[in-house]
Amino acid sequence: MTTIAIKTIMSAMRLDRCLANAGFGSRTEVKELIRRGLVTVGGVIVRDAGLAVDAGETQAIHVGGESAMVRRHLHYMLHKPAGLLTALDDKRLPTIGDLLPTHLRQRGIFPIGRLDRDTTGLLILTTDGTLGHRLASPQWEVWKTYEVTIDGAPFDASDVTLFAAGLQLLDGLACRPAQLEPTSLYSADLTIHEGKFHQIKRMMLSTGRTVTKLHRRSVGGLMLDAQLAPGEFRELTTAEIAALYQLVELDNQP
Ligand code: URA
Repeated sequence: MTTIAIKTIMSAMRLDRCLANAGFGSRTEVKELIRRGLVTVGGVIVRDAGLAVDAGETQAIHVGGESAMVRRHLHYMLHKPAGLLTALDDKRLPTIGDLLPTHLRQRGIFPIGRLDRDTTGLLILTTDGTLGHRLASPQWEVWKTYEVTIDGAPFDASDVTLFAAGLQLLDGLACRPAQLEPTSLYSADLTIHEGKFHQIKRMMLSTGRTVTKLHRRSVGGLMLDAQLAPGEFRELTTAEIAALYQLVELDNQP
């Protein structure tokens, strides 16, 4: 009976893949655990590694008596290094996908929004399409803070007013008000809540400056973990995940 119920659940995944994703070993190792009768679903020993289960229902799965708590969605932060495309694959150039282990890619993880190839800093990765869509959409006005270094005229107080009023890009496109906080003559923290193509570079160009360095420090209040070196990533904490879901008015997923 339990088996029938599990098989009818949407977005099903094979039991062996589900357990491998949860860190119980490689697919081969997990199959061996199943073969040895160590895996139960709903209290019943299962010997079919291909049994369809749903990641949201896996609290009912135990391995050697231990609960296989697989979360419905995965959320990570990556310290994006320079030189990689914000994409999972590209025929010609290295991408952030090259940094991710197979099991995360198999779960369908993707980056929220896009950083240019030469931009460094915080990229959030998730398997939740709705969360990703809302965090990236200008409609939800999620604030993102960048550290920007420029070539050209030094910043002064008039720039703060200009950015706060909403800049007009060289092609005539209007930007929403942004917060510019100069940190030196040639660097500033810039906070925006939209994500037009090359937005910050184009904003700076419209004031006659060019960006020489761009680093994203935070998204929606989530700060890049200072412990992460470029290229490193970690899972978001429960509190960080809850804060992001709350920000875009979604129920937190288990
Ligand atoms: N604005 C840019 O110009 N580039 C980025 O990577 C992000 C924001």
